[in-house]
Order: sequence, then structure tokens, then C-alpha cells
Amino acid sequence: MVVWAAILLCAGALVTSEDAALAVPDWPLSYGSLNPPMVGGIAFEHSHRLIATGLGILTIVLAVLLWKKEERRWVKYLGLAALVGVIFQGILGGLTVLQLLHYWLPVMHACTAEIMFAILVSISVFTSRWWMENLPQYEDSGWLSIHSIAVFNAALIFLQVFVGAGFRHKYMTLKPHVFGAPIILCTVIWAATVMKRRFPQVAAIKRVRLLLHSIVGLQIVLGIIALWTRIQSANDPQPLPPVVISTVVHTVLGATLFATSIVTVLVCYRLVPRRREVLLGTAKGEIAA
Ligand code: HEM
Ligand code: HEM
Repeated sequence: MVVWAAILLCAGALVTSEDAALAVPDWPLSYGSLNPPMVGGIAFEHSHRLIATGLGILTIVLAVLLWKKEERRWVKYLGLAALVGVIFQGILGGLTVLQLLHYWLPVMHACTAEIMFAILVSISVFTSRWWMENLPQYEDSGWLSIHSIAVFNAALIFLQVFVGAGFRHKYMTLKPHVFGAPIILCTVIWAATVMKRRFPQVAAIKRVRLLLHSIVGLQIVLGIIALWTRIQSANDPQPLPPVVISTVVHTVLGATLFATSIVTVLVCYRLVPRRREVLLGTAKGEIAA
């Protein structure tokens, strides 16, 4: 399901990069049909709609399965939230077309896509065997809790995605996005260093901090390539394959980085009790280190 959602992100990003957003002027049907001629921009836009419909069906199945089989109430409701989110995202996509890309709708559609992706990834973490196992708990140290640092890191990455989408859909200049990149890099390095210092022995925390590091590095390189290909071909007829490929990969890796930052938050909450809980846990002798 997460893989399907990632394919959908690629298909959506292709619609934008191929300048095919308004190739189909109507919605919910495409040229009054479920099966329009798949030529030019219509192929990109209609495929995106079909793949989105597929995700909608998968999300209905997920929500029903969670409702029937899952014991934890909050996970059942998260399944419902995912379903509402996908429906909302679909309607937003339709409005984006009907309102001719006005009112920041494409920016909202791009950002909620990233949130949807992160929700689906989170559901797979919550339902994984690892999450449900009885795991040792680790004590935090330092004046700022690891939870606050991880949440701050995820929030800044989301802000960076937002200003990226603002530029991509011509609502903002590139400046905030380019200035944001070194800030994100520093925040990720800071968060990862704190994790390494406080929890050197915890495998899951090591995994997420290494992932964050490598994805952010790759993402900055890809951003520079996306910008460079745009500048190089500024006077050429668009869209050219190097621009399309670099911008699509940069957009989808941005979603992956945001989802990884959310998984980092979840891993911290799963393995490190908050201070209030530590007090109770110590009283019961539950904390491992
Ligand atoms: C349910 C799930 C959906 C998801 C997760 C999704 C995701 C995305 C993503 C990631 C983008 C690329 C944004 C970017 O590159 O900045 C996009 C673009 C787009 N999507 Fe969707 N989408 C969904 C449903 C729909 C539907 C049902 C429509 C119906 C018309 C639609 C219409 C569009 C359009 C027109 C664009 C291009 C916007 C532009 O270039 O300004 N989407 N979508
Ligand atoms: C940590 C760093 C970064 C993250 C998380 C990030 C994320 C993103 C995302 C998610 C988008 C697409 C937004 C959307 O519509 O969905 C985007 C667009 C863009 N980013 Fe980045 N980015 C980063 C760094 C950079 C850097 C360093 C540069 C260049 C110097 C850059 C240049 C661009 C450009 C040019 C676009 C628009 C692509 C287009 O032409 O459509 N990014 N970024």
C-alpha cells in the first residue's frame, strides 16, 4: 500500500512536471468519460486519477480491515482518518482542476499528499510486529527532550516541503526554499547527533538517524540538480526529460524525507518514555538504561 502511494506520488509529480495539470478540464470524469484517449498530457493526468482511485480502494480495504481486526481503538480511528484524508485529497485534486490551479489549491494538494503518505507509512509502523513487541525502554537526558527535537525536525522539513511546493506551483520565489536547505541540514545533523550521543546502543534509533542523514544529503544534491537543469534549459521548449526526471525525483524524495522524519518521531515515542512517564516507570523499575 505504501508502495502504491509512492507510485501515486510519482504520477502526481509527473502531472506537474509535464505541465499536464489542465490537460483534462473536467472532473470527476475525464472529457465526460472514464476512458478518455490516452494522448499527450491527458495520459499523465488521467493515469494519475486512475492510480489515485486505486489508492482510494486500497484505503477502504485497509480501513475496513483495521475496523474489524485491530484491537487498539486509536489505530482503528487512524484507518478511518486515512480514508477521510484520501477522499479529501481526491476532492482537492478535482477542485485544483475546476478552479484552474488558483487559490493555492495545487500547493495544498501537494502538501496534503505528503501528509497522506506519512499517515500510511505511520499505519504500517503501528501495525508492524516490531511496534507491538515488548520493547526495552530507554531513559532520556538533556534539557530538551528527544521527542521535542524529533518533532521540531519533522515540522521544519514540512515547512521546507511547503515552500518547495509554493515555488513549484508559482506562488512563491525560490529564495525561502534555498535558504531553508542549510537550515534543514543543520537541524537533521543536530537531531542525529543528539540521538547518537544519548542512545548509541539503540539499533532502531541508529537506523532512523542514518536514514535521515543519507536522504537529506541526497535530497540537497537532487535539489541542486533540479535547479541546474531548469537554468540550463530555461530557453528551451519545456518540458525536457532532465528537468522532468530531476524535479519528480526531488519531489518524491522530499515526501520520503518527511515520512522518515515522522517515523523518527514515532520510534522516539515508542522507545523513550516521556519525562512524566519516567517518573512513574522508575517507581515501578521498568526503565532499561
Ligand atoms: C488520492 C489521492 C491523490 C494523491 C495522493 C495525489 C498526489 C499528487 C501529487 C503528489 C501531485 C504532485 C504535486 C507536485 O508535484 O507538486 C499531484 C498533482 C496533481 N494532482 Fe493529484 N493526487 C491525488 C488525487 C488526485 C485527483 C483525484 C485528481 C483529480 C483531478 C488530482 C489532480 C492533480 C493535478 C491536476 C495535479 C497537478 C497540479 C499542478 O501541476 O499544479 N489528484 N497529485
Ligand atoms: C533538505 C532539503 C530539501 C527538501 C526537503 C526539499 C523538498 C522539495 C520538495 C518536496 C519539492 C516539491 C514540492 C511539491 O510541489 O510537492 C521541492 C521543489 C524544489 N526544490 Fe527542493 N528540497 C530541498 C532542498 C533543495 C535545494 C538545496 C535546492 C536547490 C538549490 C532545491 C530546489 C528545488 C527546486 C528548484 C524545486 C522546484 C522543482 C520544479 O522545478 O518544479 N531544493 N523541494
